[in-house]
Amino acid sequence: MTRILLTGIAGQLGSELQHTLVPLGEVMGVDRHKLDLTQPDKIRQVIGEVQPNLIVNAAAYTAVDKAETETERANAINGTAPTIMAEAAQELGAALIHVSTDYIFDGRKNTPYTEDDTPDPINAYGQSKRLGEQGVLKNCDRAIILRTAWVYGAQGKGNFVKTMLRLGAEREELRVVVDQVGTPTWTGDLASAIAQFVQHPIDSGIYHFTNSGAISWYDFAVAIFEEAQQMGFPLQVKQVVPITTAEYPTPAPRPAYSVLSTQKISAILGHHPPHWRTGLRQMLKQLSGNK
Ligand SMILES: NC(=O)c1ccc[n+]([C@@H]2O[C@H](COP(=O)([O-])OP(=O)(O)OC[C@H]3O[C@@H](n4cnc5c(N)ncnc54)[C@H](OP(=O)(O)O)[C@@H]3O)[C@@H](O)[C@H]2O)c1
Repeated sequence: MTRILLTGIAGQLGSELQHTLVPLGEVMGVDRHKLDLTQPDKIRQVIGEVQPNLIVNAAAYTAVDKAETETERANAINGTAPTIMAEAAQELGAALIHVSTDYIFDGRKNTPYTEDDTPDPINAYGQSKRLGEQGVLKNCDRAIILRTAWVYGAQGKGNFVKTMLRLGAEREELRVVVDQVGTPTWTGDLASAIAQFVQHPIDSGIYHFTNSGAISWYDFAVAIFEEAQQMGFPLQVKQVVPITTAEYPTPAPRPAYSVLSTQKISAILGHHPPHWRTGLRQMLKQLSGNK
């Protein structure tokens, strides 16, 4: 039976994966309290104790703006920790699925980024995640880097959808950035794809997985309110105003365009990933069930 060490189980993706992976093996899920990824010795110790056949790393330092000032911490969690996991996996002959991000690209393209495009992160978070990718690819022969983007789910602390629902319940007008384009990706679809690779292992290397389609944050906000209204969420919002990134300055610059090509992964899955709107509806259904 596959012994799976899963990190980040309190996070959006990790908590989803804990449910999705359970039927596929013996899952040892760890959160920050059981395994603090800033402690290299602890990482080696836990992997030595669990002796996994597979490590799925869904933990990360994901505070994009804070990473600009907490760069060392971001690098330790996103760069050093996955590298140690890769070394330990290699020693055991285990596989490693490591989750990465669209933010390793600079966003200057206007067609979807493929796995062969050259990473060039423009913020500290993206740089820390790129360090992790490099460490993983260099140290583990059975490693898969799964890049995704704009992740949201019903579980975990927060995300754009939850923020829009909260603000939309409080305010009549919201201002949302229109000149950043990407693909919102539901944790349910991402976890299903990962489960498929656990059942049917794929060649090591880099893969992109997001939902299908491309949209700006502004258009996504409008879609969230359309769908949420139909499902009876309490909303005050009457108007969503498109604004530019320049009008909404943040400590960390964001790539203007970070759509990932899913052609490579679609060929393996046998279908294109579900459209982002399908994922959004599923997530809202889950949230409304929890109300
Ligand atoms: N969110 C996005 O929009 C997005 C986009 C592209 C790629 N990704 C990637 O997708 C993956 C999953 O992201 P997510 O959205 O599920 O992130 P998340 O909800 O922020 O979850 C990350 C988890 O990592 C844990 N973590 C942070 N520091 C840790 C440490 N020192 N030791 C152990 N655990 C630690 C967090 O623990 P606490 O709960 O205790 O803080 C949290 O549970 C990550 O690799 C991320 O880089 C995310």
